[in-house]
Amino acid sequence: MSAGLIETTEARAGRTFLPGPVLLLGAPGVGKGTQSQILMAEFGIPQISTGDLLRANIQRGTQLGKQAKSLMDAGQLVPDNVVNGMVRDRLAQPDAATGYILDGYPRTLGQAEWLDGYLAASDTLHLDLIAVNIRVDPGESQRRIAGRRSCPTCKRVYNTYSHPSKVKNICDFDGSALVQRSDDTEAAFVQRMEAYKNQTAAVIAHYWGHGRFAEVDGTRSVSEVADAIRRELVALRAATKQVV
Ligand code: AP5
Repeated sequence: MSAGLIETTEARAGRTFLPGPVLLLGAPGVGKGTQSQILMAEFGIPQISTGDLLRANIQRGTQLGKQAKSLMDAGQLVPDNVVNGMVRDRLAQPDAATGYILDGYPRTLGQAEWLDGYLAASDTLHLDLIAVNIRVDPGESQRRIAGRRSCPTCKRVYNTYSHPSKVKNICDFDGSALVQRSDDTEAAFVQRMEAYKNQTAAVIAHYWGHGRFAEVDGTRSVSEVADAIRRELVALRAATKQVV
């Protein structure tokens, strides 16, 4: 994502709309993180990525990080109670008071039910969740994951196929050497897709059943996908008759 893209989308939206609490769903590599970053910059609400929170714990060497690392590297899900606890702590932060983008959470029916219960009991944000699922075929997901590189310093994400850095493997913004995620291997990808099919498909059915759910075609360009997500968020929030 470039700074130019953020300016364009910000200008187009004119900041007249706030989405409130949003779930971005989709298989590994569909572009949840890329799109969350755009929405975050555009609407001024935080991206809450359970993958990023877990990786931050690994980097800090916490007990939680030690527990999560081997599961993540094998492409398996981290237990619900661990992830739910992390999300509960993050949602309690003041910057999440008017809305947020949950990226990669919930991923099991147990997490979705826990989140529904938590929000129903919460006395801060009384707005319905709206959910958008990004669809990409598994072959394209795999290609995107194989090509993903990220900057360990500023966290910008590149792709050797679709969004390469100007100098190979060097961040355009701070000159750091780009890195590949330890779970972006072919073997871990197969397991991540299995976990997605076996456990996360039910989450999509859950939110589809709530009726505050839309899908977008994630195979188009980053800015076209962002436009489609924005259109769906506006329509979904309008359907709830809730103003943020
Ligand atoms: P997590 O970090 O959430 O990984 P993921 O869901 O597999 O998603 P990714 O981060 O791989 O992909 P993305 O959809 O964000 O795509 P991105 O925007 O980067 O989770 C990792 C692990 O943590 C899990 O396997 C699990 O172990 C654990 N975990 C996390 N949450 C959990 C939970 N709730 N419960 C239990 N365990 C949990 O894009 C990918 C690439 O494509 C990039 O290079 C990007 O530049 C490129 N790209 C993006 N959009 C486009 C486009 N439109 N066209 C071309 N290229 C594009």
